[in-house]
Amino acid sequence: MNLPDRINGPRIHLRVAHNLAPQAFFDLVMASKKEIIAFLPWAEKYASVTDAAASIARFKTLWDEGTAFTYAIYNHDNVLVGVVDWRPKKDWWGTIGYWLGTPYTGRGYMAAAVDTMVTDFFKRGIHRAVIQCDTRNQPSAAVAKRAGFTYEGHLRQDRQNEDGSFHDSLQFSRLATDPYPNGE
Ligand SMILES: CC(C)(COP(=O)(O)OP(=O)(O)OC[C@H]1O[C@@H](n2cnc3c(N)ncnc32)[C@H](O)[C@@H]1OP(=O)(O)O)[C@@H](O)C(=O)NCCC(=O)NCCS
Repeated sequence: MNLPDRINGPRIHLRVAHNLAPQAFFDLVMASKKEIIAFLPWAEKYASVTDAAASIARFKTLWDEGTAFTYAIYNHDNVLVGVVDWRPKKDWWGTIGYWLGTPYTGRGYMAAAVDTMVTDFFKRGIHRAVIQCDTRNQPSAAVAKRAGFTYEGHLRQDRQNEDGSFHDSLQFSRLATDPYPNGE
């Protein structure tokens, strides 16, 4: 699968995350750790810039393998605000994951990033994009709806927490043939 290194949107722009500076990525994770570990447990282990360098190296490996395509999100001031990724299941559909740096929440950046990414991918022949989130993660469900995704259903105990407990997910999708969310 050939996906672009950069995608420009009206409010944000996306650049491949494997070119990030480890210090900048580390600083963003540390500024957001308390808020993101609830749903992204990998952040708990972050202790040094070496951890950020390892994540960035892994972004590159997964990109080259074609298993995950991770983009850094920048705002109009060129400030790194978060990350969004695409995990292809087939060449025509995949799932989306994301997190924002806590100082940059509440500004609509993530809904803009998801919309920008799928709008580009749909022009490249991808047909279906899926977002799944923990039922307790209402901010994530709100991103999906704000980015024009349709609620598809409630998945029973499809995710396991670090402590072994199971939790339910909500699933949303957007199709290339769906009307553009802003009616354009
Ligand atoms: C999920 C997450 C990305 C949502 O962040 P968010 O800032 O709420 O989402 P958006 O960037 O789309 O911003 C939406 C908010 O900005 C507000 N906003 C401000 N200006 C806006 C604009 N110009 N356009 C759209 N929304 C705007 C919206 O009203 C909304 O605020 P509200 O929820 O108080 O109504 C964030 O909470 C996060 O990173 N969580 C931890 C990691 C995580 O859970 N990831 C998902 C795993 S499935």
